[in-house]
Amino acid sequence: MRILVTGGLGFIGSHLVRHLLVQENVWVTNLDALTYAGNPENLEDVQGNPRYQWRHASITDEVAVNEVLSAEVFDAVMHLAAESHVDRSIEGGLAFVETNVVGTQILLEAARRHGVGRFLHVSTDEVYGSLGPSGLFSEDSPLTPNSPYSASKAASDLLALAAFRTHGQDVVVTRCSNNFGPNQFPEKLIPLYITNGFQKEPWPLYGDGANVRDWIYVKDHIEALWLALIKGRAGEVYNIGARNERTNREVAAALLTLLQLPKETVIAVPDRLGHDRRYAIDPSKAERELGFHPQFGWETALEATVVWYREHRSWWKAIKSGQYRDFYHRQYPTLGTFAHDG
Ligand code: NAD
Ligand code: DAU
Repeated sequence: MRILVTGGLGFIGSHLVRHLLVQENVWVTNLDALTYAGNPENLEDVQGNPRYQWRHASITDEVAVNEVLSAEVFDAVMHLAAESHVDRSIEGGLAFVETNVVGTQILLEAARRHGVGRFLHVSTDEVYGSLGPSGLFSEDSPLTPNSPYSASKAASDLLALAAFRTHGQDVVVTRCSNNFGPNQFPEKLIPLYITNGFQKEPWPLYGDGANVRDWIYVKDHIEALWLALIKGRAGEVYNIGARNERTNREVAAALLTLLQLPKETVIAVPDRLGHDRRYAIDPSKAERELGFHPQFGWETALEATVVWYREHRSWWKAIKSGQYRDFYHRQYPTLGTFAHDG
């Protein structure tokens, strides 16, 4: 089976590529533009694998995308490449429209032109917008995205479904909740807190800290993507989640305990603009149709994540001393400077 993965040098994509290469008779081509969020180190261990290759190109480059898709006959595209950070989309949304919307349409058309079997579009629960204190997102919930990031993901999600309805293209869409685990870029909540903890820097908590996210370990998400690829029905959407809702305060408290830090580490900062209050996924369709059942518990997976960051200081220190610093200082102007070595 030949699979084109997009965004394979990022957080979820790198776990996916590694998982695919463990399967027998799977060849992976990874199309990744290496933006600030991509990192070749994430896939250092598979560099020499004869069943793996990285093509350095943007999904917004129509010529390059068609060139990659005409070089081999792919059985499937697993499309993860995206601008993925909500706060960056609030600073400016153009890159989000270009990559997430235009790039997805370029890929869909190229996949169709070159006879790709299946197109798995990796969407997000953020396309549903925000929930009140009760209820869950089902696949039939209306799409009411609130940030430029989630609006661009909703557009790409609908373009993928439109390709199925209009052209009969074999498209499957997954909408997953918040991932955490090794290799996540430290702009996201959990790796930001863990690495700031090692560097004795404060933990910025937006607003009242009562916003709820539904957390899933990245390896469980990967398993669900594989199941959706091989068992999903064309034209269907599958919600992916681990029934694991936590307020941001609860996440902070769990990490304070694991890192043995005082509660004063957490500093209230101004709220994110348009901050979605609560996400919660009903994954029963994926459980029923795909046989998806998360294998990793919250506490053990969170601890394993802390251990990974403790053991991979050079990975995140290189990021935090590079161009990410500028974003951090714009984002949290009153906070520290990563002065401590960690
Ligand atoms: P990430 O930001 O860690 O990685 C994105 C990757 O895409 C990087 O390797 C980057 O170089 C690449 N990329 C960006 N623009 C590109 C372009 N124009 N052409 C080619 N490559 C490009 O993202 P992530 O957190 O791993 O998320 C991966 C996918 O999963 C995204 O589509 C995201 O919307 C979706 N998703 C993420 C989560 C989550 O919690 N992180 C949850 C649900 C869905
Ligand atoms: O739900 C899936 C989505 O999860 C994915 O589609 C996105 O790509 C991914 O980035 C993530 O989006 P969130 O905005 O939920 O993740 P983030 O880690 O940025 O924030 C999680 C929560 O923590 C959110 O309520 C905002 C809050 N937060 C975040 C940061 C970075 C803080 O309180 N302080 C912070 O410094």
